[in-house]
Amino acid sequence: MSSTHSTNKRRILVTSALPYANGSIHLGHLLEHIQTDIWMRFQKSRGHECIGVCADDTHGTPIMLRAQKEGISPEEFIAATREEHMKDFEDFLVNYDNYHSTHSEENKMMCEHIYRKLNEAGHIAKREISQLFDPEKQMFLPDRFVKGECPKCGSSDQYGDNCDNCSATYSPTELVNPKSAVSGATPVIKNSEHFFFKLTDFEDMLKAWTRDGHVQEQIANKLDEWFNAGLQEWDISRDAPYFGFEIPDAPDKYFYVWVDAPIGYMSSFKNLCDKRNGLNFNEFWQVNNDTELHHFIGKDIVYFHTLFWPAMLDGSGFRKPTKVHAHGFLTVDGKKMSKSKGTFIKARTYLNHLKPEYLRYYFMAKLTNRIDDFDLNFDDFIARVNSDLVGKYINLASRSAGFISKSFDGKLAALSTIHPLIAEFQNAAEKIAQLYEDKQYGQAVREIMALTDKANQYVDKEEPWVKIKDEASSQQVQEICTIAINLFKILTIYLKPAIPKIAAQVEDFLNIAPLRWRDTERLLEKHRINRFKPMVQRIERKQLDAIVEDSIAENAPVSEVQLTDPLKPEIEFADFDKVDLRIVKIIKAEHVEGAEKLLKLQLDLDGVTKQVFAGIKSAYLPEDLEGKLTVMVANLKPRKMRFGESEGMVLAAGPGGKDLWILNPDEGAQPGMRVK
Ligand code: MSP
Ligand code: ZN
Repeated sequence: MSSTHSTNKRRILVTSALPYANGSIHLGHLLEHIQTDIWMRFQKSRGHECIGVCADDTHGTPIMLRAQKEGISPEEFIAATREEHMKDFEDFLVNYDNYHSTHSEENKMMCEHIYRKLNEAGHIAKREISQLFDPEKQMFLPDRFVKGECPKCGSSDQYGDNCDNCSATYSPTELVNPKSAVSGATPVIKNSEHFFFKLTDFEDMLKAWTRDGHVQEQIANKLDEWFNAGLQEWDISRDAPYFGFEIPDAPDKYFYVWVDAPIGYMSSFKNLCDKRNGLNFNEFWQVNNDTELHHFIGKDIVYFHTLFWPAMLDGSGFRKPTKVHAHGFLTVDGKKMSKSKGTFIKARTYLNHLKPEYLRYYFMAKLTNRIDDFDLNFDDFIARVNSDLVGKYINLASRSAGFISKSFDGKLAALSTIHPLIAEFQNAAEKIAQLYEDKQYGQAVREIMALTDKANQYVDKEEPWVKIKDEASSQQVQEICTIAINLFKILTIYLKPAIPKIAAQVEDFLNIAPLRWRDTERLLEKHRINRFKPMVQRIERKQLDAIVEDSIAENAPVSEVQLTDPLKPEIEFADFDKVDLRIVKIIKAEHVEGAEKLLKLQLDLDGVTKQVFAGIKSAYLPEDLEGKLTVMVANLKPRKMRFGESEGMVLAAGPGGKDLWILNPDEGAQPGMRVK
């Protein structure tokens, strides 16, 4: 593997997993994008060429249905989401060179190209499979879109692939009383031809690849388990209707979203090459080149990135990844992020209350190169930010800069010798760089904070605030503060990948060009700095409480928060449209002999008279109703009652008894008009 030393310029292409376009960016996503961004900024600081690309993952059934539900085209839907995602990343200082979409021309071409290569080489098989089919929606149902009773424990409302209650896994055809989550219809079993990628053709290659330093130890072990269980052929096709790319020469067959998603890495880069001079696609993607390819992903999608993806690349004549870096899952206050508890926090909700760098720093402080889960603990978060960033790091500058500004006209002293502490700080550079390289960010932060403590102890011991009172030691104060400012500068270089905006403010304050890693070697002497301005504020518990409150409010469906009488299950517009509501005039109202609650109404529907029995006797006198306009359900199937036929329904609100109110249209409505 290439050395981390800054004298050999490496050419590195980096990606993060492509977020699905059907939801907002949340703190879990950000864990990944911040980990990636810190790594990229570190590589650039070291003088390497490092290019980062990402994109939205836009295809598949959930996105198709979501767009339908909102009444817009999937293209419109994904365009809006992409804008939102890009803004979130920008505001979190996550800096990709290109943020593309998998629904792009480049991706379509690349997908077809790779598929053709795999097909020509005999890696694609075809065979019939049976699947649940929604007869009403005329579509095959993905596992997550079938619900029914668990075949093992009988618990109701379970998904087609596994049971929340007893954790059993099964196939959707085994569900008891299955219902389509799309239409509510009972699915039928239907056959269809599917295309399969023969992963087994690549078994030897994959076994060698995974033991060759391309994945973390923990992942290699997981892969061994998968190899032992036996590799399976991978179903890569889906039937229409599907939002995705059609498979060449196979009408109505689409690539499964997970085929075109990783290819999206290539096409986002391709799109960048077309925009940026001197960047050549093949230099990065042909086999045996000396560029590096790094993928950052979560542990849930390891199978796709360490088996399918290298096999697809290998089988179609492209290079394989240099490294796949997997991370664990973010939990909040010790638990899985939860919408009802308000710990499912969106990027934007956080940003409405706190600056991005507090979270970036906290994630950095806690990240390791392992795939264990990772907890955002609010009290720990507050303590880390306040004590490390504000209390230690920034404090070092604020306590030294004042003397330089007040007593020395902003000018730093000349340093006759290199102070041992400065030498120690400089010597830490390679060790800290190696920790960054290995994604041992937490360890790097511990090293950096230990140095910060030493710098503050140095100032404590030298007591410039005492020495300044004595004219004779004034030069000494200037030197002490110059040393402290130089230590602060070196710390800033080490922290800059995590806190780039604060670092930029520091560069302003120090009156210097943007800091790079090698600037640890250059000392600031006889140099004029600017007046110190506070750059970070302490954070408070109430800011986090507000984030949680907002998250609860955002995520709770209206019916659950406010209504004591909850809403009925959601319906499609088409369902509502079946109901024919009409304005009618009550031409006659009378008591019905023997009926306690009913009034018999004659309703004029623009010349046609309908008879309706309405249960409103407790609230209205017949004579008060005559002549009024109201609303009726006009196409309700007539019902034979003891007193005659009722040909519809009038609408009324209220709990009953005296508290019942029929509807009154606004002035101008005429009998017979449709209510819609
Ligand atoms: N679209 C796929 C990835 C395709 S890559 C070719 C996908 N999207 S996702 O939006 O569900 O997740 C994107 C990334 O965010 C994944 O790497 C996933 O592991 C990560 N995370 C999602 N929730 C997370 C946490 N709670 N914690 C940490 N990472 C999480 O998967
Ligand atoms: Zn069960």
